[in-house]
Amino acid sequence: MDNRPIGIFDSGTGGLTSVRQLTAEAPEESFVFFGDTIRAPYGGRSPEEIRFLSRRNARFLRSRDVKAIIVSCNTSTANAMAELKADNRDIPIVGTVEPTAEEAVRRSVTGRIGVMATEATVRSGLYERTILALRPDAVVVSRSCPKLVPLVETGHTAPEDPALKAALEEDMAPLREAGVDTVVLGCTHYPLISEAILAALGYPAELVDSGAACVGRVLEALKARDALAAPGSARAERYFCSGRKNEFLSVAGSFLGRSIDGDTAEVDIEGI
Ligand code: DGL
Repeated sequence: MDNRPIGIFDSGTGGLTSVRQLTAEAPEESFVFFGDTIRAPYGGRSPEEIRFLSRRNARFLRSRDVKAIIVSCNTSTANAMAELKADNRDIPIVGTVEPTAEEAVRRSVTGRIGVMATEATVRSGLYERTILALRPDAVVVSRSCPKLVPLVETGHTAPEDPALKAALEEDMAPLREAGVDTVVLGCTHYPLISEAILAALGYPAELVDSGAACVGRVLEALKARDALAAPGSARAERYFCSGRKNEFLSVAGSFLGRSIDGDTAEVDIEGI
C-alpha cells in the first residue's frame, strides 16, 4: 500500500477530465494536478518545445513525491512519451494514446474511426499507427482542430455557442463524410464539448474520452506493485497552475463537475 499522491499534468485544464475519472474510479487515491496554463496551448508548438515543457512538468510533479504520473495531455503523450518514460523509469508513467486507441478499436463496429486532436498530436501520427497496429483494416480519419482548445479554455463550451458551432462545422465535415462510427476525443479538453461535437457530426457515434481512458491503466500498474492507497484512506487533493489561479478556478469546475476551493496555488516552475 502506498498513500502518496498520483501526479497528473496537462498543458492546461483539460487534464482535469482525468482527475474526474480518477476520483470516480478510485476515490481514496490522493493526487497532485499541474496545469501549465500560462503556456497552453501546446498544440501549435514544435516537438522539441513540447518535449522540454513536458519533461519539466513531470519534474515538478516528482518534486511533490508522486508515486505515478498520468500524462493527461495527448500532445505531450504523442511527442514526449519516450523521454518521459526514460526520465521516470522508477515509477509508472502512463500517457493517453495507447489506452484511448484500444478503447476506440473495442467500441468501433465498422473500423471507421475519426481522431480529433491538436496539430502536434495529428502531426505525430501516433493515433493512426496505434489504431492500425491493433486493427490493420481500420480506416482512420484524423483532423487537427486548433481552434477548439482556446475556445474551451475561455468557456465557449455550450452547444449553441456560435464560435464553437462554426469551428466544429469545419472540423467535423471530413469525419462525417467518412462515416466514422467512433470518434477519438484525442485532446483532454474535448469531453467538455461532447454534445456540440455530436451535434456537428449529425448522427450518433461513440465518443472516446482520452482523459478517462488512461486512468484505469495507471491504477492497474499501481495494483501490480501493491502501491494503491490503503482502502478507506482520506484523499488529499492539490492543484497547481502556472497561470492565474482565478482563471484556472473559473473553468476547473466544468471539467471536474464540482468546484474546487482551497488547495490550489499558482506556481512558477521555470527553474525546475
Ligand atoms: N489537453 C491537451 C491534449 O490533450 C493539450 C491541448 C493543447 O495544449 O493544445 O492534447
